[in-house]
Order: sequence, then C-alpha cells, then structure tokens
Amino acid sequence: NQVRVAILGATGAVGTELINLLIERKFPLKDLKLLASPRSAGKKVTFQDQTLEIEAVDDNSFDDVDIVLASAGGSTSKQWAEKIVAAGAVMIDNSSAFRMNPDVPLVVPEINPNDVHNHKGIIANPNCTTILMGVAIYPLHQIQPIKRVVVSTYQSASGAGARAMEEVKTQSEAILKGENPQPEILPYPLAFNLFPHNSPLMDNGYCEEEMKMVNETRKIFGDDDIRITATCVRVPVLRAHSEAVNIEFAQPFPLNKARDIIAQAPGVKLVEDWQNNYFPMPMDATGKDEVLVGRIRQDLSNPNSIELWLCGDQIRKGAALNAVQIAELLVHDN
Ligand code: A2P
Repeated sequence: NQVRVAILGATGAVGTELINLLIERKFPLKDLKLLASPRSAGKKVTFQDQTLEIEAVDDNSFDDVDIVLASAGGSTSKQWAEKIVAAGAVMIDNSSAFRMNPDVPLVVPEINPNDVHNHKGIIANPNCTTILMGVAIYPLHQIQPIKRVVVSTYQSASGAGARAMEEVKTQSEAILKGENPQPEILPYPLAFNLFPHNSPLMDNGYCEEEMKMVNETRKIFGDDDIRITATCVRVPVLRAHSEAVNIEFAQPFPLNKARDIIAQAPGVKLVEDWQNNYFPMPMDATGKDEVLVGRIRQDLSNPNSIELWLCGDQIRKGAALNAVQIAELLVHDN
C-alpha cells in the first residue's frame, strides 16, 4: 500500500513542513516528487539521509502520482487541478480555490473524516484559522449545538508565506538599527505593528479571511445555522495563530463540562494554570500538533456564552498537518 506523492509548492513554508511531516509520520511513501515554479528548478532539498531535487511543474508532472499535496496558492491550484484529476491523482488542496465548491469535500479529520469519501478528485484543506477554531469548538458543538460565535484572530506572518516570515525578521532588525524599511511582501510593516487582515475586502465590510471563517466552518460542521462573526488581524508573530473565541449556546454550558470535553478532545490540549496566569501562547504552540486551549470562562455578559483562548501552529495543524492527515485517511481507507 505504498503511495506516490507530489508536493506542489515544495519550497514554501507549508511545502517544507509537508516534507517534514510525511517523513516524521512515516507516511507510506513509494515516491516523493517536489514541485515548484521554474524559479526553484534544480534546487536541492535534504531530509534525513536523502537529497531530492525540486522540479518545475509541467504537463507531465502528475502522470505517475497518486496524491498531490498542493500549497502553491489559489491560481496555481486552479491552473493544475484539471491535469491532476485527469491523471487519476487525488489533489489535497491547501488553497481557497475549491473550498466552497459543493463537489469538493472540506475536511478536518477530527471533525468530518467521513467526508473524504465523497471526493471527485479534489479534497480541500480549510483555511488555517478555521481549522484551529473548529478543532477546539466542535467537541462542544456535539454536546450542545453552538448558536453563535464571535471570534477575533491574532494571525502570524506565516499565513502569508515563507517570504513574509523573512520580511518580519529583516524588518525587525532594520527597525532596531533605526532604519525605516519599506515592506515588499506584506502591504504594511508588521514588525512592531499589527494590521487588520490584508485579504480583499467584500461589500459587506468583512475581508475574505473573515468570511472564510464563517462559510468554511458551516460547511465543515455541516450546519448552516451557526451564526459567526470574525475580526482577523495580522500580528508580528512568526508562525502560530491565536484566537479569542466567544461561543453562545441555547442554554448555559457548564464550565467544568466544557473543560473536561476540551481536555479529552482529539487534536486539542488544555493549557490552563490560573494561579500563575499561564495560558496558551504562540511560542508554545509553534511546532506542536495540538491546538492549545485555555482561559475557558463564563461570559459575564451572557449566561449562555463561554469564552476561550486558543493558539495553534498555522503551518502544521493550520495547513500541512491537516493535509497529511487527510492523505492518511485516504490511504487507510483504501
Ligand atoms: P517557488 O519557490 O518556486 O516560487 P509560500 O506560500 O511560502 O510563499 O510558498 C509558495 C509556494 O508556491 C512555493 O513553493 C512557490 O515556489 C510555489 N509557487 C508559486 N507560484 C508557483 C507557480 N506558478 N507554479 C508552481 N509553484 C509555484
């Protein structure tokens, strides 16, 4: 049951982590092909004792591949999807290109693993903030249906790719030297700053990132009745996102019960030390598989609502790990 895998976007922040995760989780690889743009062709990538060369993606790249893990942006996904499916491979797509397509399952393995079976060649990996929130709140939703969510995000530079992470580092150094660096990848300086998420704005006043949290959460939960409102913000953190989530139910949700459920939920780790005021931090979530959840408390302003705080590695569970878990579901079910 060995699988031929290609990573499209293998030089990127998520692509690099995909390689690490396939090796670390002992994915049954028969062959691993690393694809990127012509800019990267010929670059070498070394992991464990193997060295692989990056290839420029072309018309024949998918002929001998079973699963394509795509993380090269929406336009690249759209450009190659038809070829990938025609070649008989399954595309697990990290971009937003196909997420809301009714023929494309949108999967978080801790929430809707069975949806992987309904694919027609493409399975979509949800938006990072949506995955992290979903993993944390779905176990509560199973006990008492959630009526409304109000979420604010604190999103790291990694969501904008490897070059954005690099920009925050060089920008920080330059500012510390008293310089006034101009941003090139992100629209505004992120070092020592923050700004509302830079995805395109919609007519309703929300940005695309915020609407992804609304629409994708409903699709993954299979519940169009949940009301969700989000404010997404980029903060000068390198690679883990944080979220403040207010969750409203039809009746009060006992806090002890919420804490017990979160403590036992798959993919989640309860991190709460009330005596020392120690709760999840992006630094602690970096490199971890679990979404760290804490500060679970009663909303003072509404008896039917609780508050929680979470941090999760955007590149791992927010992207690469979720995609590899989907690939594992595909392989195990065959
Ligand atoms: P490359 O390094 O050759 O530009 P990130 O999200 O971290 O910025 O990574 C984006 C990934 O998508 C990189 O691996 C990048 O490759 C790849 N990529 C971008 N544009 C294309 C394209 N037109 N064709 C193939 N890969 C692309």
